[in-house]
Amino acid sequence: MIRLQSIGVTFEIAGNAVEVLHDISLDLQDARLTVVIGESGCGKTTLLNVIAGFVTPSSGTVTIDGRRITGPGADRGVVFQDDALLPWQSVLENVAFGLRLSGLPKVEREARAHEYLALTGLDKYADFPIWKISGGMRQRVGLARALAVDPRFLLLDEPLGALDALTRERMQEHLLRIWKASGKGLFMITHSVEEALFLATDLVLLRARPGRVETIRQLDFSERFAAGESARSIKSDRYFVKLREEILYDLLIHEEQSA
Ligand SMILES: Nc1ncnc2c1ncn2[C@@H]1O[C@H](COP(=O)(O)OP(=O)(O)OP(=O)(O)O)[C@@H](O)[C@H]1O
Ligand SMILES: [Mg+2]
Repeated sequence: MIRLQSIGVTFEIAGNAVEVLHDISLDLQDARLTVVIGESGCGKTTLLNVIAGFVTPSSGTVTIDGRRITGPGADRGVVFQDDALLPWQSVLENVAFGLRLSGLPKVEREARAHEYLALTGLDKYADFPIWKISGGMRQRVGLARALAVDPRFLLLDEPLGALDALTRERMQEHLLRIWKASGKGLFMITHSVEEALFLATDLVLLRARPGRVETIRQLDFSERFAAGESARSIKSDRYFVKLREEILYDLLIHEEQSA
């Protein structure tokens, strides 16, 4: 389990000390899917960077199984908001790249890469250079690359943000299947309230200035999908629609107030 206790982050912005995150406590459990939503600039990526070990909090502690997190580690795979792929290399090479540090021989790295490309529906594009595939496909390459390393926790910053609406819905279902099959703990940021509700077992709503936890809701829509209910049936469920409207309204109100 990853545990955040009273995390605070203060950045120096234009000569001023600005508190970006304030007193955040959160548990990320194995096999749970924690989703964070909140208005732009409220500190979501900063929170992910703290968990990934890229940003050292100004106060509080982050631990994984009781051990202090002091930097990045292979136990936490990250998919960034803007993909960081190697454009001149092939899709396959990009996915296999993450495995170079694993010590696996090339043949096995490529076999593993193929496996995860198949999982993300990209196997036909294995030999394409990155610059020849669409933005949505690039996001899937980023996802495949992080998954191939088989980290215990996967940290995803708007992994489906560049996808068109239909592909996005399919990828949400795909992500749930991968999550269920892998038993990994997922931590994901999204701007889509519907996506957050559909995917999250734990939905964290952040408020801005300073970024802080407003509510954490336990949800079971993703479990219902895993148990066989269709995505369409879940997303049109009355309770789902009610929650979606409530949260959207809440985000809009607060965004207007702070604008
Ligand atoms: N390394 C840094 N140094 C200084 N300020 C930073 C740094 N990283 C982020 N910030 C500031 O912290 C605030 C929160 O940024 P963050 O990227 O975490 O927001 P976000 O919720 O992910 O936004 P978005 O939804 O637009 O991606 C912003 O005001 C940003 O400018
Ligand atoms: Mg962000």
